[in-house]
Amino acid sequence: MTPSKNFTQDIGIKTPVICGPMYPGSNPELVAAVSEAGGLGVVQPVTMTYVYGHDFREGLQLIKRNTSKPFGVNFTLIKANKTYEKRMQEWLEISIEEGVKFFLTSLGNPTWVVKQAHEKGIKVYHDVPNRKFALKVVDTGVDGLICVNNRAGGQTGIISPEKMFDQLHDLNLPLVCAGGVGDEKDFRKALEMGYAAVQMGTRFLATKECQTPNDYKEAIVNSEEKDIVWTNKIAGVNSSVILTPDIEKLGLKAGPITSKLLKGRRTKKWVRNYYMLRSMFRFKKVANKPGYGQYWQAGKGVGGIKKIEPAGDIVRRLNTVYNTFLQ
Ligand SMILES: Cc1cc2nc3c(=O)[nH]c(=O)nc-3n(C[C@H](O)[C@H](O)[C@H](O)COP(=O)(O)O)c2cc1C
Repeated sequence: MTPSKNFTQDIGIKTPVICGPMYPGSNPELVAAVSEAGGLGVVQPVTMTYVYGHDFREGLQLIKRNTSKPFGVNFTLIKANKTYEKRMQEWLEISIEEGVKFFLTSLGNPTWVVKQAHEKGIKVYHDVPNRKFALKVVDTGVDGLICVNNRAGGQTGIISPEKMFDQLHDLNLPLVCAGGVGDEKDFRKALEMGYAAVQMGTRFLATKECQTPNDYKEAIVNSEEKDIVWTNKIAGVNSSVILTPDIEKLGLKAGPITSKLLKGRRTKKWVRNYYMLRSMFRFKKVANKPGYGQYWQAGKGVGGIKKIEPAGDIVRRLNTVYNTFLQ
């Protein structure tokens, strides 16, 4: 099946690859490097402000000084509290003012983002883990779907990339394969399945521009698929991580009481919020400083990642594959 060309044409980029938003990991220099090479870097606002200490607008301006090409911003639409909701609206307005071309929404209802984005000609893609969630958002007017599968790093999906494509291709939206793409072979496979683009996270952590600690980058390069495990003790839902002594100590599964709380409608929110806050704090710690631990999120595409290299080299190699694929 030929891939939908909508993604590259719609966004105005050369290579159908997104550097996914990452907490932590998406520093502005990485976002800019991916976009400059012809892919699409996406900002994670909490990473930009809380982890790297940029004022949100200044962070976007830093990216714009490094590239004139399109880049995106991610909005995690959780209903945390009024302050967070107000902050999201502010980030959205600043993104529009700074000329951002792409919004990536996750968790929650994207209707209000779609409305404001479409008035300015900005495309909105939404994260989904399966058909049930996709059907909830197709009527909101989203322009495409980020299909988070069970090979993804960070908070992982539940079904395979193949099953996801089968479930969603009749919705007539560009589908982006998010998860398990570590090298050119994985990229080509996703295009052959029919995906319009891929979203990669783990691969871009092991780059020169990414400001995550070096031991994390090296662990990605030295890991194989068998070293990747899931734990629900980071976010209350499964996160895909490298099995390190710190993860063994943390454990892969919440205990019986917490598991029960994670099933309750209201209590699950409390537990997840507690886990999220704890992880936010842990992930912000810098290597060799007190509190830093080897809590390294990574997806099952690690086997194809052989060295730490410039992000642009990765995008350019994928572009060669894409051009061959289109012939
Ligand atoms: C360290 C890490 C942090 C992530 N943080 C976020 C996040 O804050 N928001 C989000 O929407 N996705 C997040 N993701 C998911 C990525 O954007 C992307 O979809 C995923 O990494 C793709 O799978 P891969 O790692 O196998 O390439 C994260 C992934 C990683 C590895």
